[in-house]
Amino acid sequence: MAILIENIKEIIQMEASPRLMVKGADMAKLPTLKDAYLFLEGGRIAAFGRMKDLNKQEILFENEDVQVIDAKGKMVFPSFVDSHTHLVYAASREIEYIDKIKGLSYEEIAKKGGGILNSAKKIQEASEEELVEAAMKRLDEIIRYGTGAVEIKSGYGLTTESELKMLRVIKKLKALSPLTIRATFLGAHSIPMEYRGKQHLYVDKVINEMLPLVAEENLADFIDVFCDTGFFTLEDTERILEAGLKYGIRGKIHANELDYSGGIQAGVKYNALSVDHLEFTGDAEIEALLNSATMPTVLPGAAFFLGMVYAPVRKMMDAGLPLALASDFNPGSSPSGNMQLIISMASILYKMLPEEAINATTINSAYAMGLSEELGSIAIGKKANVFITTEIPSYEFMPYAYGSNKVETVILNGTVYSPHSADRDF
Ligand code: NIG
Ligand code: FE
Repeated sequence: MAILIENIKEIIQMEASPRLMVKGADMAKLPTLKDAYLFLEGGRIAAFGRMKDLNKQEILFENEDVQVIDAKGKMVFPSFVDSHTHLVYAASREIEYIDKIKGLSYEEIAKKGGGILNSAKKIQEASEEELVEAAMKRLDEIIRYGTGAVEIKSGYGLTTESELKMLRVIKKLKALSPLTIRATFLGAHSIPMEYRGKQHLYVDKVINEMLPLVAEENLADFIDVFCDTGFFTLEDTERILEAGLKYGIRGKIHANELDYSGGIQAGVKYNALSVDHLEFTGDAEIEALLNSATMPTVLPGAAFFLGMVYAPVRKMMDAGLPLALASDFNPGSSPSGNMQLIISMASILYKMLPEEAINATTINSAYAMGLSEELGSIAIGKKANVFITTEIPSYEFMPYAYGSNKVETVILNGTVYSPHSADRDF
């Protein structure tokens, strides 16, 4: 089955010569093609060009079974890539959210045994099947908002058994979902109560007990640590990143959300693929990131929801850095995986231009999960994960019209996504 999309008002983020990421001043440049066609074949992007150059008869003659879609007045984007989520969880946490409304900080809630530990308790009680079913519903929702690839972390297990359970759930999601999924082992997400005051013993357990099993079952593409005040120290973080590398598993870490934790520098030192959150990023952190292979990733949803300071993204881009944006979809600090909303937040809260926000949620977030050769732009040979918008006046409308779904048709692996595909049995 092949798909020909014709009369496209504008193709967004098309690349004649694909790049792995964009940085600095290039963040504000977005390649587009007006009045265009796009041809998808064998699950890949096969051709695109201007309508005036389309030889439709030839395409229809040479390919059996071509689905023709008229995209008059509509735009085609590469699917969003969401490089940081915790979307496998057993229960929402809106009650704890009330504490937040009343003024308790994220750290205070965590100290009361709420937060991540609350989710960990619920995960321990849930079956793999229940977790898969709940996560598939969330995946269906983010697909409809335009996400085509997603990274999912463990980290609500915090025991060997439950961490493995979460990672097995993610493995199952990889098999069931049309999304491209990457799994991250986040055993060091929070310190279990019984290890408080002796957290190095928990870190020992993560490294010596959990990680070997995770590697043996090939359950993780990346390894993560919450490196911040009240959570894991710099020393813990470096030990874990080093241990991951011994198994060939690169880091993608939580860093500098609550303080200048040194996490950014540790990530760079151990060649992490990304460092994420970054509310506390100063000159030393920017310096470390320059000339590194580590993608700085900002999570507007969490900063917005927790009422935090915002990462200095303008300063970072002015210094020449690339920037990725992800949703951080999780029940505690960002209960939404809507990447369109993330783009709007990027513009409204961080003053990012539409072009910068689109680059940050496509090509750069694809880099942040090791996928930018496959996804993140519309380029010949890349995976055919794209969406067709509703009729919109311009791509600037994407961040501007926050709150409404501008995605009309989703195509994943070269096939139109059907809303019923999430209703199947597990
Ligand atoms: O990325 N910062 C650490 N972890 C998550 C929060 C998870 C939770 O509160 O459940 C985050 O924001
Ligand atoms: Fe997170």
